[in-house]
Amino acid sequence: MKRFDGRVAIVTGAGQGLGAQYAKDFAKDGAQVIAIDMNPETLAKVSEEIGADGGKVATYVLDITNYDGVVSMVDEVVKKFGSADILINNAAVHRAVEVSKMSKADWDLQINVDLNGSFYCTRAVLPYMIEKQYGKIINIASASAKVFFPGFGGYAAAKGGLVSFTHTLQEEVKFDNINVNAIYLGMTNTEYTRARMNEHASVTIALDDMMQPPEVSKVITWLASDEAAPIKGAAIDVFGNHY
Ligand SMILES: NC(=O)c1ccc[n+]([C@@H]2O[C@H](COP(=O)([O-])OP(=O)(O)OC[C@H]3O[C@@H](n4cnc5c(N)ncnc54)[C@H](O)[C@@H]3O)[C@@H](O)[C@H]2O)c1
Repeated sequence: MKRFDGRVAIVTGAGQGLGAQYAKDFAKDGAQVIAIDMNPETLAKVSEEIGADGGKVATYVLDITNYDGVVSMVDEVVKKFGSADILINNAAVHRAVEVSKMSKADWDLQINVDLNGSFYCTRAVLPYMIEKQYGKIINIASASAKVFFPGFGGYAAAKGGLVSFTHTLQEEVKFDNINVNAIYLGMTNTEYTRARMNEHASVTIALDDMMQPPEVSKVITWLASDEAAPIKGAAIDVFGNHY
């Protein structure tokens, strides 16, 4: 018996980085994974890897800022696989621009993907979770929502909003056997971080000294498991050595 046998786990931003790691680990642990990303090539690669490893995965090439697309995806998932038990709101973007120079488009993009997209996915799964009286929602926030750096204005606003959303939503569904938690994530060695290091010589932490996706994924899968059932409405620091 595996930890997520019989569970359907939706992971957004599953085409690369942490999302890909979460998708692989949920599948390894028995879940039917629903991997969402807007990049068809990376998503196909992750899906192949999960399939080759004997895991169960269905993919949706989808931009999570498309509300109607998100709702149809979730409706289809529940029709095909019976439920939507776990949602990992992981897809996000960061535009490293100081507020005085930030375009409206950069601001809107970060709020739309990081905050609105997470609400859209949550709104779509919640009625099914409430009906089943079972659900785990994990919102991936960021250390930059509590430790502040220049160039993170839009991203920090979205991630801070996501944390407040987490606490509030938990109060609404506390007695429906639904866990809603967030993590304040610190620096992790992913494609996103490596690209940022290339852009900004000021990021001086060695890749080896950052958290690695597999160790972060252990925390996320544990938090999504029934072992962590008493943790409700928490926003947990997952910083490693650095934020
Ligand atoms: N890597 C870090 O150091 C770090 C630190 C703090 C928080 N985080 C958070 O962890 C999460 C994953 O980070 P990562 O480093 O793996 O990021 P990443 O940029 O490597 O991967 C993000 C994935 O999300 C997808 N995506 C982006 N916009 C999308 C949209 N509108 N619809 C669907 N898919 C979309 C991208 O195609 C990509 O595959 C994010 O929420 C990020 O904010 C990361």
